[in-house]
Amino acid sequence: MERDDTLLQVTDLHTSFATGRGTVRAVDGVSLTLAAGRTLGIVGESGSGKTVLARSIMGLLPKRGATRTGSIRFEGQEIGELSPKDLRDFWGRQMAMIFQDPMTSLNPVMKIGKQITEAIHEHLEVDRSHAREMAVALLRSVRIPEPERRMKEYPHQLSGGMRQRVCIAVALACGPALLFADEPTTALDVTVQAQVLELIAQQQRERHMATIMITHDLGVVAGRADEIAVMYAGRIVERAPTAVLFSELRMPYTQALLSSIPRLDQPSHARLSTIPGRPPNLITPPPGCRFAPRCAFAQDRCRTEEPPLVAGDAPGHEYRCWFPVDPPSRRPATGTPVGAPNGGEA
Ligand SMILES: Nc1ncnc2c1ncn2[C@@H]1O[C@H](COP(=O)(O)OP(=O)(O)O)[C@@H](O)[C@H]1O
Ligand code: SF4
Ligand SMILES: [Mg+2]
Repeated sequence: MERDDTLLQVTDLHTSFATGRGTVRAVDGVSLTLAAGRTLGIVGESGSGKTVLARSIMGLLPKRGATRTGSIRFEGQEIGELSPKDLRDFWGRQMAMIFQDPMTSLNPVMKIGKQITEAIHEHLEVDRSHAREMAVALLRSVRIPEPERRMKEYPHQLSGGMRQRVCIAVALACGPALLFADEPTTALDVTVQAQVLELIAQQQRERHMATIMITHDLGVVAGRADEIAVMYAGRIVERAPTAVLFSELRMPYTQALLSSIPRLDQPSHARLSTIPGRPPNLITPPPGCRFAPRCAFAQDRCRTEEPPLVAGDAPGHEYRCWFPVDPPSRRPATGTPVGAPNGGEA
């Protein structure tokens, strides 16, 4: 049932691309709900459909070759029913996006000040001098030193971290209710990553802005998201409120992602366990459970029948797995290898 503070309601979203080699089902039946001001983390390896999901919700798919079905309601408004003009108004004011590579979303031949001022002037219909003042204030709020001077510079004159701050300022310019942050720190070095993530979190709190934080690194969303959805091969395979996910996870893929988070109590050169194999291609995904070819716990049933999303014990917890692992909360504290399957209770 739709709650009063529901901002975004996605129901059975499918997005596919027609290619020479066949139809790529990049998003294959995703449903999710996000309330105003909340943060949803979407986690999965490269190629699992995270970016396509975000772009589908924003209405930012390529015009040719892409097909989207299902429902996307933003404050009750069906996105697919917006005219191209209404959709343009929607971007910026309602939803905005920060991308992995800041250079792709900045215009390399336009001064930074102009890029932000234009966005404000166009969407908020304020005059240019007022828009300029707002732009300086925004650059200051994303902690760019000497914002008046930076306004006159081009993107290439800034460091990667400063460019990403400018992108955040551009994304925030029109006060969106929902911000997508698509791997916003992957291209940045580690110290800058933490600063940029903290900046996004701070802006979100101050603006009571909902955020969808997309990452391949469960560690990035661990302390930042209210809820986490794990994606694999175009589908959500597990989701829960963040604390519940870490203590009650049941899906072997989630467990594998968890064990590939770098740990602060280990030397930084310690090898992370990575998941063997690669995600399947999305033209002909494997039958049954899509993770089966890589899953240490796979049995015959996994290779023929697809597990449905079923409810876990805690409210809001759902997972797909025929032979779920023991959750961390039920394992002995030390010494035991993680995740023995328990014989198929789902
Ligand atoms: N325009 C496109 N045409 C064909 N395939 C695409 C297109 N965009 C994305 N894909 C495919 O969709 C799948 C999911 O991609 P993506 O959402 O970018 O993954 P992620 O963001 O999780 O790394 C990939 O297999 C990718 O190759
Ligand atoms: S359904 Fe089977 S293959 Fe899929 S995650 Fe569970 S145990 Fe592994
Ligand atoms: Mg991506």
